[in-house]
Amino acid sequence: MKKTYLFALMISASLVIFSCGNSQQNNEDSKNAAATSAPKPAEGGDQGVGSYKNVELTHPVDQSMAEKGKEIYGVKCIACHKITAEKMIGPGWKGVTERRRPEYILNFVTNTDEMLDKDPNAKALLSVCMVRMPNQHLTDIEARSVLEFMRKNDGKN
Ligand code: HEC
Repeated sequence: MKKTYLFALMISASLVIFSCGNSQQNNEDSKNAAATSAPKPAEGGDQGVGSYKNVELTHPVDQSMAEKGKEIYGVKCIACHKITAEKMIGPGWKGVTERRRPEYILNFVTNTDEMLDKDPNAKALLSVCMVRMPNQHLTDIEARSVLEFMRKNDGKN
């Protein structure tokens, strides 16, 4: 019984390693994931847990919000997140808007504790990063500004 549990833990840890760490990490893990038919955490198909259900994105990215988001990043996020793909305390932000839906990102940022307690993808990421992201108490507008900054950082327009 205990063994089975440990085995399951190891599998889920190996599945998410590349979403917290280097995105270029080997493809073997994701092949294994398909073979064991476990859900792939980085798929980005989920909206997460929170009040955001259906986010309308603007095209192009809202430049003034992205500027504001950059400032917020410099004050509240930079200690743990790089804007490259490289992991620091938390995952690097490069590509985050590709692997996560906007609803997921906004729910994560405004409802961090519940996400880390209930959302399977967020829980999987926590089990790899080993540090629980503290709630940053962003308002909805601030969270949206950070999302615009992330989109800009991912070269979206
Ligand atoms: C004390 C360190 C810390 C700070 C400060 C921090 N984070 Fe995080 N963040 C993390 C960790 C660690 C994770 C991975 C999940 C976990 O282990 O809790 C994470 C995950 C995330 C994710 C999910 C990424 C993904 O690939 O799914 C987003 C989005 C995010 N943080 C946004 C922010 C924003 C926005 C700020 C600033 C307002 C911020 N974080 C500040 C540590 C931090």
